[in-house]
Amino acid sequence: KIENSLRPKLLKDYIGQKKAKDNLKVYIEAAKARKESLDHVLFYGPPGLGKTTLAGIIANEMDVNIKITSGPAIEKPGEMAAILNNLQEGDLLFVDEIHRLNRQVEEVLYPAMEDYAIDIVIGKGASARSIRLDLPKFTLVGATTRAGMLTAPLRDRFGVVSRLEFYTVEELTDIITRSAKVFNVEIDSKGAKELARRSRGTPRLANRLLKRVRDFAEVKYDGNITEEVANFALDLLEVDKLGLDNIDREILLTMINKFAGGPVGLDTIAAAIGEDSGTIEDVYEPYLIQNGLINRTPRGRVATDIAYKHFGLNRVESDL
Ligand code: ADE
Repeated sequence: KIENSLRPKLLKDYIGQKKAKDNLKVYIEAAKARKESLDHVLFYGPPGLGKTTLAGIIANEMDVNIKITSGPAIEKPGEMAAILNNLQEGDLLFVDEIHRLNRQVEEVLYPAMEDYAIDIVIGKGASARSIRLDLPKFTLVGATTRAGMLTAPLRDRFGVVSRLEFYTVEELTDIITRSAKVFNVEIDSKGAKELARRSRGTPRLANRLLKRVRDFAEVKYDGNITEEVANFALDLLEVDKLGLDNIDREILLTMINKFAGGPVGLDTIAAAIGEDSGTIEDVYEPYLIQNGLINRTPRGRVATDIAYKHFGLNRVESDL
């Protein structure tokens, strides 16, 4: 039976993230055997690696409802209190970008996570008093691109903290092959591998590129995706052989051409290319560091020999 969804529904169909998966499997099995809700889970890591997908899988495996919201969507403590109060026993609340919750909203979560209760203040001034409202047992699943941006009290209330990693080319090849079936497009193993190589270790990007390559395959070729079609389309999409896009290249070339390869501060790079430094740090830099194109040093970021070589450039030794 071919699954008609890009997002797998069961842990056994989820490709990659072996460590996270193996651990979750145990925690889910144990919680189910005890007929308890799963402990709160925090997923962190670069965007597009499957944090939302895993939250959906946990809900499915635990056979509970999932409610999805995000840090920036909840502006007032009362909104968070209402969401929590509407949960049913065992429900999973998924909060994406949880590091973007404001302080007052976050404080509603502390007793909710720890004691399954919220404290509501009634009245004003001298007559104000706080009453405690019990909540059903629930599981909070938080996702963030940067665990370091969570406050300690929030981070400490997660029983499970799981870091998601970039996918290998082999894992992405499997994901792309599976997605191609969902999209009803033929792809051969070399085509899938070329797409995987250029997907920045990221399933979300792999699936997006697969759709675009399918368009080229259908309009410019016979509809099947081969290595040739993948190369043709990805070159047009300006995704290079390492999977770098225009912004990745701009970051590296700015470091090389304007700052002699570094060391240069993150904020300086950000200003030079007109991009937000937080976005560079969370979205672009992790992959560049992982692939040895950038090093982080105490004095700033440095473009490595691999980066120079990638662009066919030689390092110009300045007046050292
Ligand atoms: N689709 C997106 N991410 C996936 C994963 N990790 N495994 C299987 N299919 C996916």
